[in-house]
Amino acid sequence: MTARTDPITADVLTDEAYRYYRENGFVRVPQVLSASEVARFRAASEEAMAQHGPEIWGAGEDTVQVHFVAQAWLKHEALRDLALHPAVTRAAKRLAGAPLRLYSTDVLLKPGRRTLTTLPTLAHDDETGLPLDGLDRTLTAWIALVDVPVESGCLSYVPGSHLRGTAHRQTHMTSFAEHRAISDIWPDYAWQPRITVPLKAGDVAFHHCRTVHMAGPNLTDSPRLGHGIVFMDAEATYRPGTEDAHISHMAPGAPLDNENFPLV
Ligand code: SIN
Ligand code: NI
Repeated sequence: MTARTDPITADVLTDEAYRYYRENGFVRVPQVLSASEVARFRAASEEAMAQHGPEIWGAGEDTVQVHFVAQAWLKHEALRDLALHPAVTRAAKRLAGAPLRLYSTDVLLKPGRRTLTTLPTLAHDDETGLPLDGLDRTLTAWIALVDVPVESGCLSYVPGSHLRGTAHRQTHMTSFAEHRAISDIWPDYAWQPRITVPLKAGDVAFHHCRTVHMAGPNLTDSPRLGHGIVFMDAEATYRPGTEDAHISHMAPGAPLDNENFPLV
């Protein structure tokens, strides 16, 4: 494998990758970040986790799916550079085919087995948990800051699930108590193939906010460290929902068009 030397100016997205994303709702883009960038963003993510984390994705400390730090780009200068990395934002805009804003960035850690036994990340789509309206093009970039083989708990995706109708989606929830299992709202879910996508450090996998995805437990001794960046439709508006403390002062229906949600 040839290491990328100029991740800022090179176009990382091939036409084939674009077509694959449109059809399947996710795509892996190899080696978007150089080795030195990975090292810098990994160190910054570890610092952010030590200083601000972790919040727990799961029912409690004994049932951790993921440790995370929310709004990480506002908490660490280097993670701001990651969130606005030109190779990532350019690929996201091309995949979306529409103007985008940065909505949120999270450090996403499944600690190694010696520290903690993590659970699988349950199947979900991101639209359900976003306190936003108008998400037709919204997508997440999942950036690997270490090698993430299958055994570490990489993500799997249900190809084409971003195109399923609203009858088979939970488009919103106002509290986690409303959350419904994918199998409840999409009876065919159990018979859908899933594609598991291991990543090398520096790879980025993009998925549409309606693509059903999940991750395995981390069965290794090494931490699975990644970064999730949500790029929303530029015209998306606030819709009271979950994890919205940072915007709950806004009026429902208001556009998120201020400096905390920059156009990318
Ligand atoms: C994970 O990192 O395990 C889940 C991330 C996501 O759902 O986007
Ligand atoms: Ni997700």
